[in-house]
Amino acid sequence: MRPDIVDLVLPAPLRDRLAALATVHPRPVTDFGTGTSGPGAGGVDSGAADARGTTLPADALAATDILLTGWGCPPLDAAVLARAPRLAAVIHAAGTVKGHVRPEVWQRGIAVSSAADANAGPVVEFTLAAIWFAARRALGGAADYHRGLLPAYGDRRGADGAVVGVIGASRIGRGVIARLRAATAAYRILLADPYVTPEQAAALGAELVSPDDLCRAADIVTVHAPDLPETHHLLDARRLALLRNGAAVVNTARGRLVDTDALTRECASGRLDAYLDVTDPEPLPPGHPLHSLPNVLLTPHIAGAQGTEVQRLGAYAVAEVERWIRGEPLLGAVRADELARIA
Ligand SMILES: NC(=O)c1ccc[n+]([C@@H]2O[C@H](COP(=O)([O-])OP(=O)(O)OC[C@H]3O[C@@H](n4cnc5c(N)ncnc54)[C@H](O)[C@@H]3O)[C@@H](O)[C@H]2O)c1
Repeated sequence: MRPDIVDLVLPAPLRDRLAALATVHPRPVTDFGTGTSGPGAGGVDSGAADARGTTLPADALAATDILLTGWGCPPLDAAVLARAPRLAAVIHAAGTVKGHVRPEVWQRGIAVSSAADANAGPVVEFTLAAIWFAARRALGGAADYHRGLLPAYGDRRGADGAVVGVIGASRIGRGVIARLRAATAAYRILLADPYVTPEQAAALGAELVSPDDLCRAADIVTVHAPDLPETHHLLDARRLALLRNGAAVVNTARGRLVDTDALTRECASGRLDAYLDVTDPEPLPPGHPLHSLPNVLLTPHIAGAQGTEVQRLGAYAVAEVERWIRGEPLLGAVRADELARIA
């Protein structure tokens, strides 16, 4: 992983736990010497770990049973695997493994685990906060207030009865639904997800509807599907136009799920409010209208674990290493056949 995050992801107590379990390479590894990245192309350890970390020496890679990976890990491709005959598990101390785990890893029967569960909690809580503000039309109200307008009591919106449309019963989407159900507010929860049956939605506490019906009925739409070819512009201009006046869009998933230009137009007209932790493109160029619209809260992709929360990812990964060594099932196991529908 990137050496600058090692102390955040794996602070000393977690490294001590690992050291009690296994022989741990003493320095942060940033590449495998197969020419995929970093300074060590050619496979020979320079012996001089610089501020960017070090190449894993060929003999150490050949002896490695488990790779504990994190943000910045180079691709685990055929060239790396050819030099890692013992490799049996890749335990990722972050969310998606799509950036570095190549199909060859699964083809060789190597176990793969992700700490996406540990990253979900902060995103769920961030989303809940956005929904709570949206249910009170906090941004639109603040924009009016800046112009000297106070909402009449009869025009003020409350959360009771607010219709929340959740797109995607992903781990984060399910977490959001569970927390909405536990809230004091009596939300009505709609769910759009092609992989969920009406019975499963009802068991979660939501009504399964089509994305179009969700947009027609919702006061707040919150997006939690993965970035996949079929979710590109899932909220396009046509669906955004289905939303009622004063509705809000919350996106803590991925920017590509929403048509940025169409949403910008809807927000600039004042018809919709938006709470966006992710955008397309990301980062948004300086001067983009979304930076300055008073009814848009734009945050720089901070909904997931950050700062003091990042060690949750390391703790999850170390617990996975412990489980793997004890021969127990991995809680965060990622299977190749799930890849087409997961983040
Ligand atoms: N803002 C952040 O910092 C942050 C952090 C973590 C994750 N994320 C994003 O949050 C989203 C959810 O992550 P996750 O780990 O909960 O996902 P996940 O891997 O658990 O999601 C998989 C599920 O999404 C649903 N899904 C798949 N295709 C769909 C479609 N076309 N329409 C509706 N639902 C569909 C299915 O239920 C599937 O099982 C992803 O986009 C992820 O990239 C953002």
